Amino acid sequence: MTSIATINWLAEMSTSTPAKTAVSDHFSRAARSYDEHAILQLAVGRSLVQRLPVALPVAAALDLGCATAPFARAQQLVLPEVQWQAVDLSSAMLAEASERGRLNEHYQPLCADAEQLPLAEASQGLVFSCFALQWCDPQAVLQEIARVLVPGGRLLLAVPLRGSLQELQQSWQVVNQRPHVNALPDFSDWQNAALQAGFIDAELQQQVMVEYYDSVKSIARRLKATGADHVSGASGLTGKHAWQAMVAEYETKRTEQGLPLTWNVLFLEAEKTQ
Ligand SMILES: C[S@@+](CC[C@H](N)C(=O)[O-])C[C@H]1O[C@@H](n2cnc3c(N)ncnc32)[C@H](O)[C@@H]1O
Repeated sequence: MTSIATINWLAEMSTSTPAKTAVSDHFSRAARSYDEHAILQLAVGRSLVQRLPVALPVAAALDLGCATAPFARAQQLVLPEVQWQAVDLSSAMLAEASERGRLNEHYQPLCADAEQLPLAEASQGLVFSCFALQWCDPQAVLQEIARVLVPGGRLLLAVPLRGSLQELQQSWQVVNQRPHVNALPDFSDWQNAALQAGFIDAELQQQVMVEYYDSVKSIARRLKATGADHVSGASGLTGKHAWQAMVAEYETKRTEQGLPLTWNVLFLEAEKTQ
């Protein structure tokens, strides 16, 4: 059985900075609605699952930033002998994973910050992470992943890059200069961080994916329901006129398929060599 008390205790231990608390709070509010709206994230995650190795140097693995642990069953089917830890900053997300029956004896929750894992050095054979590390410093989080991986251990990562949500950013820019979209790291930030962390043979691929919506309102609803509307450093409410001006600008981008929402996704695969 999953212990929610354990989850909460670890949450207090690990969400130490105001920025991390803000990310955690934001996702906690999206815990119930996440699965229903995270179509693109779930598709990316399924393609990461297909890249899972069938054997690990040690039988321990992490899903970093797992949210409701939507890939738990598929991950366990590929690697049934492995002890998994479902790691997330948000205890509400882990509680939701538990309610959905995705946690079990071999798939245990750990509420912690990916940049400061309460785990021993060289203890993990695999780190899997889908759409979760975009609020982290690439260097800090890849160093931490390298620390917990055993030599021969694998990293499988997908993360949105700068250029994601560009239509939203461009549309807000004609209204005001406040941040409305997160300033995400770019391809070279992750590439350099991988090298710095010692992943010298890391393979990085960039893929642009576009979703289409019928209205700006449905885009806003989708981002809110998946917690993807969290913007570091954003403050204040948006006035009605500013919102209407942004919508009018976004409408100029409409295509036959609808209003585009671009995601620029990095896939990173690496092995710890030493
Ligand atoms: C968009 S969801 C992705 C969930 C899942 N991996 C998927 O692909 O559907 C991002 C999750 O990452 C978590 N997260 C964000 N920053 C984190 C950090 N520094 N450490 C651990 N989890 C983090 C959030 O709480 C949230 O549940």
